[in-house]
Amino acid sequence: MLSQQLHPWPVILTILFLLLHQGHGARCGMKTPTVQQTQVGFGTPPEFTVVVQNSCPVCPAIDIHIKCGGFSQILADPRFLKVIKDDDCVVNGGLPLAPLQKISFNYTHQKLSMAPKSWYFQCE
Ligand SMILES: *[C@@H]1O[C@H](CO)[C@@H](O)[C@H](O)[C@H]1NC(C)=O
Repeated sequence: MLSQQLHPWPVILTILFLLLHQGHGARCGMKTPTVQQTQVGFGTPPEFTVVVQNSCPVCPAIDIHIKCGGFSQILADPRFLKVIKDDDCVVNGGLPLAPLQKISFNYTHQKLSMAPKSWYFQCE
């Protein structure tokens, strides 16, 4: 009987946790992670440096996915950019980028457009 009365608490605590979690994420506002590409090699094919940055100054960002077009896994080390499927790549193996941390890698190919797709902010 007692355990039945206590039963709702895990659900309530989970909801509270999610609300608080989201509230903390709000400290990052609209700080979308940035993806910048700079051409560094001018041969055929050209070479690009990609820099992905967590632009939130207060919270780590985890599980950062970017739209990566037809990016092929042979172009980059999967620890930096892992191809999940067409137009879906994950940065840093899904592991956190600390506040303002950047990760960068190069690829040699015709330019492939890349843009932030999804991510989570993880705050204390
Ligand atoms: C990317 O290319 C630039 C220019 O060639 C070079 O300075 C840099 O070391 C390269 N970065 C990596 C991670 O290979």
